[in-house]
Order: sequence, then structure tokens, then C-alpha cells
Amino acid sequence: MKLAENKATLTYNNGASSIDLPVYQGNIGPDVIDIRKLYAQTGMFTYDPGFLSTASCQSSITYIDGDKGELLYRGYPIEQLATNCDFLETCHLLLYGDLPDAAGKIEFSERVTHHTMVHEQMQFFLRGFRRDAHPMAILTGLVGALSAFYHDSTDINNPAHRDISAIRLIAKMPTLVAMAYKYNAGQPYMYPKNNLSYAGNFLHMMFATPCEEYVVNPVIERALDRILVLHADHEQNASTSTVRLCGSSGTNPFAAIAAGVACLWGPAHGGANEACLNMLEGIMKNGGIETVGEFMEQVKDKNSGVKLMGFGHRVYKNYDPRAKLMQETCKEVLAELGLENDPLFKLAMALEKIALEDDYFVSRKLYPNVDFYSGIVQRAIGIPVELFTAVFASARTVGWMAQLNEMISDPEYKIGRPRQLFTGETRRDVPPMSDR
Ligand code: CMC
Repeated sequence: MKLAENKATLTYNNGASSIDLPVYQGNIGPDVIDIRKLYAQTGMFTYDPGFLSTASCQSSITYIDGDKGELLYRGYPIEQLATNCDFLETCHLLLYGDLPDAAGKIEFSERVTHHTMVHEQMQFFLRGFRRDAHPMAILTGLVGALSAFYHDSTDINNPAHRDISAIRLIAKMPTLVAMAYKYNAGQPYMYPKNNLSYAGNFLHMMFATPCEEYVVNPVIERALDRILVLHADHEQNASTSTVRLCGSSGTNPFAAIAAGVACLWGPAHGGANEACLNMLEGIMKNGGIETVGEFMEQVKDKNSGVKLMGFGHRVYKNYDPRAKLMQETCKEVLAELGLENDPLFKLAMALEKIALEDDYFVSRKLYPNVDFYSGIVQRAIGIPVELFTAVFASARTVGWMAQLNEMISDPEYKIGRPRQLFTGETRRDVPPMSDR
């Protein structure tokens, strides 16, 4: 961390003496005020629910400029990565700090590919779930259970354990997602195929059956790969912060990633693509594109509790750069599948157009986020709505592992332990039962 020349000074209006707080500069982005000694010096905490103004760590992985609508993984713009690199190259970049060369790419792909099978016992564990269980409920359980299968990689303080856990998790996540899907559909599980790409194998495990040869469509393969690249990391979002906090206790990597999966499930985070698709389908059922105006009035009415899902972001106060790329992919996939006139896509475009011109959205800087289009793409590919967040979890696993690695390797890392402003009862005595 680079110490800035200036300091922040905290002064009081009651005559108490002021204190200076160090300021650190990042390579880009806002400076931070170091308040680590604040409590020791003042007896006070800071209050910041939702961490609106708090940097919880230093990180060199992902940078977002929310005002510009810029996203960089290890310095590379997401547009260049999504166009020139595949998901496994992106994984290498996030995990090890740089893109692989040609030989490194082959070596890394082979490592991941040879870890895609899961322990055969896993399918019996999966059988304990109801057939109609939500895939995210299954995934949370299965990922947590990996720690019971791979005892040789559970020491979070051992870099070799973390590395092999990362490879295992990246490799096995699509297998688990596909197994959850097949279990729900009542179809046989399809074992991974090593001659396919990461995305191609994902499609094969999802959509092939033992009855006939499954041929991977390269347009769909590229679209899924792009979904994975775009979702691979997003700095200190809710699930990543969850993984860091969970891992900070020294728990094993599988348990920490299971916590991230659980957090991602929420509709304000990874569950938004599912919620967005449900919203679009709801509008279609209740009158279709003609009722868009009416729906938008509800969105703008604070008492209705209706939100335009897939819009707005804590960090982006401009068009989410991932949404632009996803819109492009959406058009490609719909054209390939002959679905250009897909009513849901038309509805999404109509909603987007209104929102981008409406003062409610403009004044609040609410733009489409990645989930606005990723749901439509996934639905067109044939992925069921309730599986969307599980696909997102597969993509984000690499980001979670890279961030976990970074935290454990940081000499300044401590167990996460926020404080509070207490507003409950002060000390009181337990009354006898007859007086309660
Ligand atoms: N529809 C209608 N109004 C909205 C929306 C929306 N989607 N998002 C924000 N607002 C309003 C909000 O009511 C508030 O209005 P006011 O200032 O009058 O009280 C204002 O905009 C600021 O919003 P906020 O809730 O304070 O912003 P936040 O940073 O706490 O929340 C968010 C960000 C993503 C949770 C929120 O925008 C939201 O719920 N969006 C819909 C869900 C969604 O698409 N989530 C996916 C996020 S991207 C995927 C990911 O990275 O996980």
C-alpha cells in the first residue's frame, strides 16, 4: 500500500483534540482513510451498514470504475477478455495474475479437464434431495460436502492445498450443476468428456443423453463461455465478501465457497437473472408488451415493492460493461436459434428503452446490469430458469478462490469481525417467572 502525503484529520466540536489518520493510495480508484487505530485512539467505531464507504481489504485482482462503466481483471478490460480469451485463460489470469502463454494454456486446461469427475459417492448424496429441490439448495450442499471427499486439500493455510482446491472446484462445479439438473429432470447423469472445451463439456453434461451423440453448437458454446468470462469475478461483492469472511476463520476452501454459493442465491445478487426472467414472464402473462407502461408505473411507485430486476447496481452508475457484451451475445444466440422475434427479448428491449429515457431511472443512474440479458441467453440455450444462478456460481468460483488466496496470502489479513452500534436493552435483571 502506498502512503499518501496528505492525512485525514478528525476533529470534534467539543474541544477534544483532533487526530490524524493515514491515507493510502491505490494504483487507480479512490484513496482510503486508514481507521485501524481509530478505536484505540478515540474509543469510537465507524458506522457503515452495507459497507457503502468501507474498503474491507486491499486487492490487485479486479478493478471497477462504476462511473465510467469499466471492469478490469488484473488490468485487462473485460471487453478484450470476452473477445480474445476463453474462460480457462480468464481463470488462469485471475488465479495466477497473468494470461497463460500457449503452452501454459494447454497445461492449465489439461489440469482442469482431468479434475472434472466427482467422487462416485456424490450421486448417492445427491439422491437425498427431493427431485424438485432448488438447484442452489443442492449446490450449496454439494459444494460444502466436497470437503468430506477431498481430505487432502482442506488446509486453507497451505498454498498447495488452496491451489488444488481451486482447480478441483473450477473443474467440478459444472459437473455438480449438471448433476443437479439431470436429477431434477429424471435423466441419467452424463460423465464429463475430456475432448470438449470447458463450456462444450458443460453443455454436453447438461443436454446430452446416453441415447444419441450430442454435437456441441459452437455459437452456443461461445455464448456460454462468454457468460462464464463475464461472471468470473467482480471485486468485493456480497458473495465474495462472504467467502473472504468465512475463509478468514481458517475454515477449508470448500466450506468457504459453499458460503459464497449460499450468498449468491439471493435475488439482489446472483439470483437477479432468475428474478429478471420471472419478471419478464410475469409481464407476458399479465398482458404482454402493451402493459409495459403500467408495469413501469408500479416500479416507480415506492409502495408497490416492485423493482425492475436486472437494473441498477451498487457500483455501476453507468451502463454495466458486461450488459453490453451480453446484449451482443443475446442477439447472436437468438439469430443462431432462429428466435430473433422472441417475445421475451422484444419485451426486454422495450423495458430497457423506456427505463433509459425515464427520469426515475436516469436521475438515479439505474442502467441494465449483466443479469438483464444473461437470463434471456440462458433460456434460449435451454437452461431452466431455476438453474441460472447455479451457472453464475460455476463462473464465480474462480473469482472466489482467487480472492480467498489473496486474503490468506496477505500479511495484514485478520479474522473478519465487524463491530456494532448497540441499540438494545441496557443491563437488567431476570425477573422471577411470576413477574414476567
Ligand atoms: N428498480 C427500481 N428502483 C430501483 C432499482 C430497480 N431495479 N434499483 C435501485 N432502485 C432505486 C432505489 O429504490 C433507490 O431509490 P430512492 O433513492 O428513491 O430510495 C435508488 O434507486 C438507489 O438504489 P439502492 O437500492 O439504494 O441501491 P443499492 O446500491 O443499495 O442496490 C441493487 C443495488 C443491485 C441491490 C438494486 O439496484 C437492485 O435491487 N436491483 C435489482 C436487482 C438486480 O438486478 N441485482 C443484480 C445486481 S448485478 C449482479 C451482481 O453483481 O450480483
